Amino acid sequence: MTLKKSKEFNTQANIIYYHGDVRNLLLDIPDQFIQLIVTSPPYNLGKEYEEKLHLDSYLEQQQEVITECVRVLKPEGSICWQVGNYVNNGEIIPLDILLFPIFSDLSLHLRNRIVWHFGHGLHAKNRFSGRYEVLLWFTKTDNYVFNLDAVRVPQKYPNKKYYKGPKKGTLSGNPLGKNPSDIWNIPNVKSNHVEKTDHPCQFPVELVERLVLSLSNEDDWVFDPFMGVATTAIASLLHHRKAIGAEIIKEYVDIGWERVNLAEQGKLKIRPMDRPVYDPNNTDGYIPPKTINIDNNIPLPQPRLFEKKEKYNKNKGSLKNEDNI
Ligand SMILES: C[S@@+](CC[C@H](N)C(=O)[O-])C[C@H]1O[C@@H](n2cnc3c(N)ncnc32)[C@H](O)[C@@H]1O
Repeated sequence: MTLKKSKEFNTQANIIYYHGDVRNLLLDIPDQFIQLIVTSPPYNLGKEYEEKLHLDSYLEQQQEVITECVRVLKPEGSICWQVGNYVNNGEIIPLDILLFPIFSDLSLHLRNRIVWHFGHGLHAKNRFSGRYEVLLWFTKTDNYVFNLDAVRVPQKYPNKKYYKGPKKGTLSGNPLGKNPSDIWNIPNVKSNHVEKTDHPCQFPVELVERLVLSLSNEDDWVFDPFMGVATTAIASLLHHRKAIGAEIIKEYVDIGWERVNLAEQGKLKIRPMDRPVYDPNNTDGYIPPKTINIDNNIPLPQPRLFEKKEKYNKNKGSLKNEDNI
């Protein structure tokens, strides 16, 4: 089935990717329409896509968008706001600290403050190098979608059994895997990452996949107010959700559509969710980049028992630079 694509609000579409200010797109979105909101907003660092504002003005703009996000969110829905630090004259101000009161004043409930750890970035000279950002996960009510089984990760000792008591001899851990916890070690999208485009701060598809799978169901709408090059849309369509988002810069919208079109043709490469972080001392069980197809007719994989991975034969395919992450 070909995807129904739209450049403006349209309830019949599979993907709505609006070129313009998100505040205009929000005017068209009805109350309680969206199941999941995932975004990485501008950090007010003066990047090429943003004008550095006085911090108060930046927070006012964020508040305006967040308030509207809460309006369009379903009662069982979630908002995930992924942020790093605002930096001024070498001094850092963690944006999650500044943004938290906005969400809490809107009566949202913080479920996790997830630390996204990654291994690559600038090498600081006058402080320790920053190697994490934060993801604030809020729900609108106490009755929210949370599909933990869809995102379990392998147990450290999958065959460990109870050695005494009534359960003696049975597996002590969940055979579907363990809870991924609130510390996520996922490589960030730097120059040799297979997903890298011309956007300076993409987040990785696998970061969004984990949120989409756990916090929404098939056919739900997933919204990214600051869509960049459509990463949230790709992760959502891949798992049979509908995607909606806005991006103010035309160049990024063009790149984003190109990625969506490639994914639709089965040609977009992503870093697979189940690939462990590269360890030069242990390349056994290496999992190569995955080429995805977002055709709705391809059945979704179900939660599965984790098995030992087949060894990747490095002699068959060459280990490219892009794979070393
Ligand atoms: C941190 S980036 C998000 C990148 C995205 N997560 C991805 O993977 O491509 C923030 C994006 O928000 C866009 N942006 C800034 N203000 C906006 C607004 N008012 N409406 C829509 N997009 C905006 C910027 O151009 C930038 O691409």
